[in-house]
Amino acid sequence: MSANGNHTQGGNNGSNATGGTGGAIAVGIEDLSFATTEYVLPHTELAAYNGTEIGKYHLGIGQQSMSVPAADEDIVTMAAAAAAPIVARHGAGRIRTVILATESSIDQAKAAGVYAHSLLGLPAATRVVELKQACYGATAALQFAMGLVYRNPSEQVLVIASDVSKYDLDSPGEATQGAAAAAILVGANPSLLRIEPASGLFTADVMDFWRPNYRDTALVDGQESISAYLQAVEGSWKDYSEQGGRSLEDFAAFCYHQPFTKMAYKAHRHLLHYCGHPVENDEVARVLEPTTTYNSVVGNSYTASLYLGLAALLDSDADLTDRAIGLLSYGSGSVAEFFAATVVPGYRAHLRTKAHREAIDRRKPIDHATYRELHQRSFPTDGGDYPVPAQTSGPYRFSALSGHKRIYEPR
Ligand code: HMG
Repeated sequence: MSANGNHTQGGNNGSNATGGTGGAIAVGIEDLSFATTEYVLPHTELAAYNGTEIGKYHLGIGQQSMSVPAADEDIVTMAAAAAAPIVARHGAGRIRTVILATESSIDQAKAAGVYAHSLLGLPAATRVVELKQACYGATAALQFAMGLVYRNPSEQVLVIASDVSKYDLDSPGEATQGAAAAAILVGANPSLLRIEPASGLFTADVMDFWRPNYRDTALVDGQESISAYLQAVEGSWKDYSEQGGRSLEDFAAFCYHQPFTKMAYKAHRHLLHYCGHPVENDEVARVLEPTTTYNSVVGNSYTASLYLGLAALLDSDADLTDRAIGLLSYGSGSVAEFFAATVVPGYRAHLRTKAHREAIDRRKPIDHATYRELHQRSFPTDGGDYPVPAQTSGPYRFSALSGHKRIYEPR
């Protein structure tokens, strides 16, 4: 954020470090679209059930509600729903790669992106792969996509982040669940954001949050996960600075991974303190509030969370033309990356603000008993035929499990 509000640029703007042109082409985000679930559980329902003072949810963790998938929704239906408007607008002709990042994978071998590729009607001449590193996976996908576009600027890469965040019922993590998918079209001369080459990286082998293959809910050490995240903010910023990145004052906005929206506040205060800047709560709130409007009602969408924060920021009233945004991606375990993007003039004409608000507003509130029932749903593992109840009003549904195969269809 520029202390004096000026549109300051990185000192070495235009160089390989921050300029985003690398002396050649600009590569970045051409389009951004997200989808979420059929249902929503207000935190008031959870609080009434477990006796928690609602202030803990609304103020303490900064969450109002969480998206809950219908029985016939999962990471594939959300991924296709997020990406379909992008394919409709840009066509499929230049998309030669689909990278789907998720940590709520539906198969140990087959990439979820192959199902999404089929639902989207993409050409056979496409490379499709799945990527995992907790919530960080989508940022790795974005960076790998950038490399492919630099190699051949006529190609586009469709990056999709899709996740269902699921913790045990009645555990502290339960209030930080959610679900969503974000689709990001990466290309040359982008209409929304130029991603700058300088990146700050940080990896540490910690057990703050993980999900063994035999579990469908994550295990977490809540307080350890918060300190691991803050360590990663520090580590990735340090590396970003050493790689010749911008200084803190250059940024008009900051977007953080938001497992719960108050985590972004903790992270930004930590970064300001680490950089020796004053930590003024009103200023921190002014900078972060526009990035939290979607996440505070969707909940944690793991890989998609940072990009819902970015969508909320771009969809907000602030004019960010030519301004720099700092992005911090964190995935437990842990890997983090701090990187920067510059907002392209005319970006507003390419936003999907109305569709994003509709995706949130169309969700149907459910009561606590219905949420619990959906949370506990599972399939027998005998290979039989199990049709899934038709619940979603979204464009795609998971219609059956049959012979151990998941069947998807347009609705
Ligand atoms: P908890 O024990 O339920 O809550 O755990 P708490 O006691 O720590 O309270 C939370 C906050 O509410 C505190 O504020 C309280 O003071 C406040 P803080 O001290 O943090 O500023 N509070 C109140 N405020 C107002 N009115 C009240 C009130 N009562 C209390 N009446 C926790 C909370 C987030 C740890 C838990 O929900 C959890 O374990 N969540 C899952 C883990 C998580 O989200 N970790 C975040 C960092 S790790 C990450 O981001 C990666 C991740 O996305 C996974 C991935 O990478 O794949 C999770």
